Amino acid sequence: MTEDTPLTTDGGTDAEPSTDVALDPWGSSTISDYRKLFEQFGIEEFDESEVPTPHYLMRRGVIFGHREYGRVVEAMVNDDPFAALSGFMPTGDPHIGHKLVFDELIWHQEQGGDTYGLIADLEAHSARGMSWDEIDKHARDYILSLLALGFDAENGELYRQSDNRVLQDLAFELGSKTNFSEFEAIYGFGGETNVSHMQSVVTQMADILYPQLEQPKPTVIPVGPDQDPHVRFSRDVATRMRFFKVTEAFASFAADAEELPFIRAAYSALAEAADDDEQIRCEDAAEWLTAEENVDTATAAAESAADIVDAAAPDDAARKSAVGKLRAAGKEPLRPRVRFLDRNASEAAFDALVQAIPGEKRRYEEHIDSFELSAAAAEDLAREVELDHDGYGFYQPSSIYHRFMTGLTGGKMSSSVPASHISLLDDPEDGYDKVKSAATGGRATAEKQRELGGKPDECPVYELYAYLLAQDDDAFATEVYEECAGGERLCGGCKEQAAELMRAFLEDHQEKREEAAELLEDLDIDLDTDRRGLGGEEDEDAV
Ligand code: TRP
Ligand code: SF4
Repeated sequence: MTEDTPLTTDGGTDAEPSTDVALDPWGSSTISDYRKLFEQFGIEEFDESEVPTPHYLMRRGVIFGHREYGRVVEAMVNDDPFAALSGFMPTGDPHIGHKLVFDELIWHQEQGGDTYGLIADLEAHSARGMSWDEIDKHARDYILSLLALGFDAENGELYRQSDNRVLQDLAFELGSKTNFSEFEAIYGFGGETNVSHMQSVVTQMADILYPQLEQPKPTVIPVGPDQDPHVRFSRDVATRMRFFKVTEAFASFAADAEELPFIRAAYSALAEAADDDEQIRCEDAAEWLTAEENVDTATAAAESAADIVDAAAPDDAARKSAVGKLRAAGKEPLRPRVRFLDRNASEAAFDALVQAIPGEKRRYEEHIDSFELSAAAAEDLAREVELDHDGYGFYQPSSIYHRFMTGLTGGKMSSSVPASHISLLDDPEDGYDKVKSAATGGRATAEKQRELGGKPDECPVYELYAYLLAQDDDAFATEVYEECAGGERLCGGCKEQAAELMRAFLEDHQEKREEAAELLEDLDIDLDTDRRGLGGEEDEDAV
């Protein structure tokens, strides 16, 4: 996993992605592109079988990747608190691509999550030059659609970035743990980048951690993969904000993540062979790790440990440096322990942690070793002490990633090309027409189509069925797919059916939006901001 080629984000610069991943934030949808995301960025493949009752977007592979979603699933299964949050830049009409995210939020809310939807108006103003008037109008439209699709605003929270003082305080705090060089490396910002744009980045990090302010909890951020740089950065900053780092250790010296598995392997082998009260010493482990017959065993153990924690496989250099440290420690006993390292703790918090650790412990200048706590119990304790001393105790946020929809005209879906997408505000008849004139994965003639079958995997119309029109009905989606691939379905009729479903969907959705308008009155969200500012120099607005 290499971390050095940043994805370019929506909120980033105008530059094209400079990576060899053909990740056009708003268009690419071939499988090989998505595969590269796994290899290059360490996004993991989404496996819906691990989710108890997966949403249809999960079942159909629309949600294809994640970071540490397992933590959220675990909370869901155990009825523990968890949260979901996503944000929308109010630069245009909400469209069927946004609907994916609305649905993901609503689903997590139905599964019992605390759910947040936010309007990224600071980002729209600073990164896209939208005027406040335009922002107000679009903000309203996003919220109405979210409500119309079933978001429960009584149990969830909707906010605008500009209107949320608590959020901005958090952004300010997070800003003190980030610096300009990182912005350069991650987003390609440079000397000409406007400062408000930078502020909108820390604001997005604050958004991502906001659900944990009340209480730290697993949180999922459903987004497109173009937002992954923000997710990774937030995960990193969440960790930097912690008071203590909890690690495994075997002796007084510090071993890094690559060395540890070797030391652990040596310890297990020696402990197994030792008599009950026999003391294992560091130099014994050094010797074990250098004995020819053990090198392969240790390396294999280290590799499988790396798999489990998703770290780089340790190499022989790591084994050798582990041996060096063990030798230097000589006769010091080798004993497994958990270590609390001081990251940002105040003296009072450090002292409180020492007090709180049960059983045998040893206090050093910058760390504390505990010999009786399990790793999990140590994590809990560290968080508890942090929270008691005005820290945040953040969990690293998780994420899930959905595929971008292909434009109806083929190519990318862009809100600057009306025919390429369907707005949730489109007149139902226009929606019907757009589907009727959409590109397909069909053959040149009906005859050929009967003979060879169509290509549903390359068909924007099939995508409409799978992502939206078939809704929860897997049998129907499969039927369309198989009939198409088998040559029994011809594009004319197929598009007619899709177009009718689209019209019906838009009619229904817009009716629900009207009902939602009443709900909106009662919500505490200001859609008529009294802000002054610059008057809007809207950039070309890709979806
Ligand atoms: N940057 C996102 C976009 O361009 C919007 C956004 C702001 C967001 N804050 C967020 C998305 C937090 C997810 C989570 O659409
Ligand atoms: Fe696409 Fe339908 Fe034609 Fe198949 S039959 S290629 S799914 S429009």
